[in-house]
Order: sequence, then C-alpha cells, then structure tokens
Amino acid sequence: MEKINQITSGKAKSLYTTNEESFLVMEFRDDTSAFDGKKTAALENKGKVNNQFNAFIMEFLATQNIDTHFVKLLSNTESLVKNLEMFPIECVVRNRATGSLCKRLGIEDGLILETPLFEFFLKDDDLGDPLINDNHIISFGWANREDLSLMQSITLKVNELLIDFFAKANLLLIDFKLEFGKQDEKIVLGDEFTPDGCRLWDKDTLTKMDKDRFRQDLGNVIETYGEVADRLGMQIKLD
Ligand code: TMP
Ligand code: ASP
Repeated sequence: MEKINQITSGKAKSLYTTNEESFLVMEFRDDTSAFDGKKTAALENKGKVNNQFNAFIMEFLATQNIDTHFVKLLSNTESLVKNLEMFPIECVVRNRATGSLCKRLGIEDGLILETPLFEFFLKDDDLGDPLINDNHIISFGWANREDLSLMQSITLKVNELLIDFFAKANLLLIDFKLEFGKQDEKIVLGDEFTPDGCRLWDKDTLTKMDKDRFRQDLGNVIETYGEVADRLGMQIKLD
C-alpha cells in the first residue's frame, strides 16, 4: 500500500491517504502534548514506542472480538489502519479518581470507584475538551442513540479486558480514553491505545507510568513507557 497525501496532522500523529480509499497510514511522531496543546515537547523514540505499543494492544483487543481500525504495522512509526468516519467524541472510563475528575468534583486523588465511571467529552481543544452527556450528543447530532450506547458498552468491555491484561504486568489501569468511528455502518475502535491516553500505576508503589510523567514533569517519560512495554512482553524496535 502506497502512502500518498497527508490529510491531518494532530498533536502526536499524522494521517495519510493510500492508493486505496478505505485504508490510511497512521504515523506516530515524537511530538507530545498535554493540557489541550498548551504544553508540548518532542520526546526521542516516542513515535516508535507508541506505534508498536498501540499495535500490541489493538491486536490483543482484536483477539477478544473488539473491532478495531488497526490492520498491520508498516514500519517502526507507521501503521496501516481502516479509514473511519470519526465521531467528535472521546469516551473515558475511570476505575480510580484522578485528573480532571478530582478537580471537577473535589474528589480525593486515587479514590477507588464503586463501579467504573464512564464519561463522554467533546473533542475540541479550543474548548478544553468539555464534559458532555448523551443528550448533548443527540441534540447536536454528533452520534445517534444506538451508536453512543455501543461506544459506551465497547469502552466498558475494553476496560474489563485491559484491567486483567495490565494486572499481569503488575499495573493498575486507572483510566483511559477511546475514540470511535464508523465504516460500513459498523462502530469501530479508532485512534490509539498508548500510555499517552491512559493512566497506569505500578500496583505496589502506585508510581505513575503514563503521560502524567510528562504533564507533571516527573522525568523518564519514554523510558517508563518502555518499561510498561517490557513488562507486557512487547519487543519494541528502535532501529
Ligand atoms: P482526564 O483526567 O484529563 O479527564 O483524563 C482521563 C483519561 O483520559 C486520562 O487517561 C487521559 C485521557 N484523555 C486523553 O488522553 N485525552 C483527552 O483529551 C481526554 C479528555 C482524556
Ligand atoms: N485533553 C488533553 C490534551 O488533548 C489531554 C492531555 O492532557 O493529554 O492534551
């Protein structure tokens, strides 16, 4: 498959058309951003680590009957993906309270939630990705009721699968964000699953092993992503 034109360049990834309309090339760059683009840096090897990390997780999810856009790795930083029509929505699920939830509701950091908490956010950096609910999505026509209920149930299913998956690496899955799109009337998981879009804490020490290391200037960001990858048995190529 040939990579042709760049169609979008987001904060950390770029998308390219190919000679087939239903496939795109997704390139992971070293660029890193947080706080809706207010804090940025280029972190060496991040593109390679995140591309291969994402492939590993998406391949695992596919074995568990989760429909994903991931097709195959093309290089250390590029993957072939299905061309989805994306919803402008972020699906977040939390197992412990931290981040924006604590700020918004004055909740104690690290509180274990009685049951996983699902939230929708609008994907709009200029607005700071505001929290929205089902009614906003329906009234503004961002998705229909059936689609949003599927996005919610798939996200909760992914949470169940990945809690156990990360537990084997002695990691707690604290929260994560997924984005979905549609191809041929089917809801498909798109975007990425990497330490950039989730929170992972070491089970024994509660050390942060995700993008909070960048947000909070904790250092060794990509080295720590690499440690997560090692614990999960990934063999990341950096050549
Ligand atoms: P939050 O605490 O900032 O709301 O984030 C919850 C989780 O979702 C956290 O793992 C980071 C992820 N997330 C993103 O990766 N991008 C986003 O735009 C949002 C809103 C959340
Ligand atoms: N919404 C934030 C961003 O887009 C999430 C983060 O801090 O990673 O940068």
